Amino acid sequence: MSAIIGFPQNFLWGGATAANQLEGAYNEGGKGLSSADMVVYVPKEKRTEGHAIEITSRQIEKILAGELDHERFPKRYGIDFYHRYKEDIALFAELGFKVFRLSINWARIFPNGDDALPNEAGLQFYDHVFDELHKYGIEPLVTLSHYETPLGLTHKYNGWAGREAIGHFTRYAETVFTRYKNKVKYWITFNEINMMTVSPFTAGGVVIDRADNKLQTIYQALHHQFVASSLATKLCHAIIPGAKIGCMLARLESYPATCSPKDVLKALHENQLNLFFTDVQARGEYPGYMERYFAENDIVVRKETGDDEILKAHTVDFISFSYYMSLTISADPNGEKAEGNLFGGVKNPYLETSDWGWQIDPTGLRITLNHFYDRYHKPLFIVENGLGAYDKVEEDGSVHDGYRIDYLRRHIEQMKETIADGVDLIGYTSWGPIDLISMSTSEMSKRYGFIYVDQDDEGNGTLKRSKKDSFEWYKRVIATNGEEL
Ligand code: BG6
Repeated sequence: MSAIIGFPQNFLWGGATAANQLEGAYNEGGKGLSSADMVVYVPKEKRTEGHAIEITSRQIEKILAGELDHERFPKRYGIDFYHRYKEDIALFAELGFKVFRLSINWARIFPNGDDALPNEAGLQFYDHVFDELHKYGIEPLVTLSHYETPLGLTHKYNGWAGREAIGHFTRYAETVFTRYKNKVKYWITFNEINMMTVSPFTAGGVVIDRADNKLQTIYQALHHQFVASSLATKLCHAIIPGAKIGCMLARLESYPATCSPKDVLKALHENQLNLFFTDVQARGEYPGYMERYFAENDIVVRKETGDDEILKAHTVDFISFSYYMSLTISADPNGEKAEGNLFGGVKNPYLETSDWGWQIDPTGLRITLNHFYDRYHKPLFIVENGLGAYDKVEEDGSVHDGYRIDYLRRHIEQMKETIADGVDLIGYTSWGPIDLISMSTSEMSKRYGFIYVDQDDEGNGTLKRSKKDSFEWYKRVIATNGEEL
């Protein structure tokens, strides 16, 4: 049998976003506050490690008491998609998108997380957005939870640290599945579920200074998300016949720094710690290597009767993931650290880095796709990939972002190779097709888009949208189904 060459005819090309980085209107239409609304912008020169995304109890108190009103909270304002979605979706249609990934902001639907009834204005907003997408034949791919835990759940249960979050999340999931059953057939439960280990507040509204044992709290919160994700999968299948629902991981392929068995073993362990999440969600059970990790780190995950059966019975239909970089792992504690990435590792001398120090590795995408497929044999969906870069606007308004084209082209070439390797890759949504607020730094200047948005890090600008050079390039990629890169 000959290998399949090229992208399948029904390949899902598109772009990916998240409500809190895009919508703005944080207090309109009955929306409640979410974890993302608590994030203050800190200019680069004042940043300390982990500053921008980890939040303390004291900081929340100060924000709610109005003591930080003089600060900027860019994720509250995004790029005003809430009011401009028609214009933006028209541009996505011009690009030829088959699919658009967005998240529902949970706090628009249940403003406090545990309200008796859903907020109709919030539900209507997404009705309008989905209708607008369908007007152009674009399928929505919807993330239920993308760093937008209602703050009310943090107050009451310390977010996902409390088992109560499972019930509130499944009610929210049931509400939106029922409402949008004729409009949305592709769903994702938790964005980058592994982010919980890096920033529990971002990933689950968990304020870590309220926990006695940090790691214990993190893995307990994750257990709650695993159960909630399986229950949402069950509901999705029951409510929307034919729907597909996936998990989502920030995939970090870890290479050994050398062929020393110590480095190789350490890289293996890093890969296991990263693949733990998809192991649970795709295979339906906790892997043995985690039992050892839990024992060595004094972690006891409290499970209720029936949890294991729920995980086993409701595994995901596809595996989706973000891919921005690979990691290089050394057993030597003095190895030169890789800069600028949240996930650690040492410098890889064979790779270039982005303006933010992320190690660019297109071949690593092929490696990771093959590893995923070998391990799970489930359809794969790349739902984030892209280059955060400084763009320069020329006097005539043009943006010559050849570096972005080059980054994307090299990754898409590897996707093509992977399809020829026999891997079932169903789609690709590049991150931030329109410039939006950065998750990790809340900057506007870390731009990923094909569409430029006139706004700076201080929130100044007209918010006018314009096309970069990469716009025409991506349009052609989609139009030729990846043949012309
Ligand atoms: C992923 C997130 O981690 O990477 C997105 O799911 C995020 O929300 C993206 O925006 C890029 O990261 P950053 O920090 O450059 O915005």
